[in-house]
Amino acid sequence: MNRIIISPSILSADFANLEREIKLAEEAGAAWIHIDVMDGHFVPNITIGVPVVKSLRKVTDLVLDTHLMIENPEKYIEPFALAGSDIITFHYEAAPDRVLETAGLIKSFGKKAGLSIKPKTEPEEILPYLDKIDLLLVMTVEPGFGGQEFMHDCAMKIPVIRANAPESLIIQVDGGINNLTAKICTSLGADSLVAGSYIYKSSDYKKAIESLL
Ligand code: DX5
Ligand code: ZN
Repeated sequence: MNRIIISPSILSADFANLEREIKLAEEAGAAWIHIDVMDGHFVPNITIGVPVVKSLRKVTDLVLDTHLMIENPEKYIEPFALAGSDIITFHYEAAPDRVLETAGLIKSFGKKAGLSIKPKTEPEEILPYLDKIDLLLVMTVEPGFGGQEFMHDCAMKIPVIRANAPESLIIQVDGGINNLTAKICTSLGADSLVAGSYIYKSSDYKKAIESLL
């Protein structure tokens, strides 16, 4: 089995010191950085936008794993791609009739295309798209906030997706990941784990990341 990719979510980091927080995560063994973009419409919260990604691009070579929790994602693909995102993941629920177009647009900028599903979305709905995307993000909390409790039912989507996906598809899990829930997800077939509060609220990022692996 390939090594699990940990993507620390800076949503739980110290926003006054993002450069330092990213360097610390890198030193602790992270290869990706997860950036949660929220618009106050698709989810109730508002967080990070394009200018922040542009600034972060200048201070890190880590993969910028951008999770768009926004309406009309197709409008913002180009700005995030030009700002330096490496992976752009949009929500199925925000563009159910425009999955192929949106994924194609992301790829047209040379970026990896991710598709995400909320807890209430059945995996069967997105199976037709698995060979058209690079990453499938299974949300194990309702998107919008860090620090929520892992929803075990949602993790059961992982084997369904794995069984129907090309081998190259990266299955990522986001929400409530800690040392115990990480193990559940990886044993079910996840390749990448997003963790916000578990890493950034810990006193030792390296220990936290190692305990997820
Ligand atoms: C939630 C975000 C997550 C969040 C995870 O909507 O998509 O990436 O940062 O936070 P934790 O790991 O604390 O559940
Ligand atoms: Zn996220």
